[in-house]
Amino acid sequence: MAPIGVFDSGIGGLSVLRHLQAQLPAEHFVYLADQGHVPYGSRSAEEIIQFSQGITQFFQRQLNAKAIVIACNTASAAALSLLREQFDVPFVGMEPAVKPAARQTQSGKVGILATGGTFASDRYARLTAKHAQGVTVWEDPCIGLVPEIEAGRLDSPAVHQILQQALSPMLAAGVDTVVLGCTHYPFVLPVVEGIVGTAVTIIDPAPAVARQTGVVLRQHNLLAERDQPGSVRFLTTGAAEPYARQVEQLLGLNDVVVETAVWRGERLSVSSNR
Ligand code: DGL
Repeated sequence: MAPIGVFDSGIGGLSVLRHLQAQLPAEHFVYLADQGHVPYGSRSAEEIIQFSQGITQFFQRQLNAKAIVIACNTASAAALSLLREQFDVPFVGMEPAVKPAARQTQSGKVGILATGGTFASDRYARLTAKHAQGVTVWEDPCIGLVPEIEAGRLDSPAVHQILQQALSPMLAAGVDTVVLGCTHYPFVLPVVEGIVGTAVTIIDPAPAVARQTGVVLRQHNLLAERDQPGSVRFLTTGAAEPYARQVEQLLGLNDVVVETAVWRGERLSVSSNR
């Protein structure tokens, strides 16, 4: 059965994968963390496009993926439109949940936490122009937060400081809705909640992305048979052992086996097949 390829710059997309697995338990997933290149947030759009094209080719040609979920706001912002033009495979991308936030805010003020790459993209500019009319949007790129999360430090003084600095001006301005616009950030949700308190709504778009994946698979007649158990394969372009421990920590699994994928120029290939 053909798998669904899921990728992110690192472990952030695991916050999407857990909802994909819960909602689509019969599917086979291949999750690729491009940790050789993390973080994407401070890279140019050209670089991110090149990585996303290489990963898509790898998923399509080597793994015969039937669909691809870009579990990364930054890569979706830079590359999704182009990938849809260039590759004949259904894609599901991500974007900061500006639309649901604008719909549900009472104060008319929403805060968006995403990466610098996402904020700088045309896709994000179009998104806010279309859906945030009449709403004041506060943005913060949370510089340094993705590397902390990648290092497994989910509750460190640095994480508290970065989030405090990002959220304090938003709270002072009367923001009542905060969007987690980077897939790494749900892993520091307890810290965000501790800072904003219960009066602020926090939106993680991952459940909606998993639902959308189900819709896209159904549209293309690609859903797996329901009575078969699904599976997941974990790949990284970085170091295998730390990655295995990260997956175990973040998804609550034991004895996770991971594989290494290797970049050779712009091409990606898996070095060890199971
Ligand atoms: N997790 C990614 C996102 O959703 C990118 C983080 C990064 O590599 O900077 O934007």
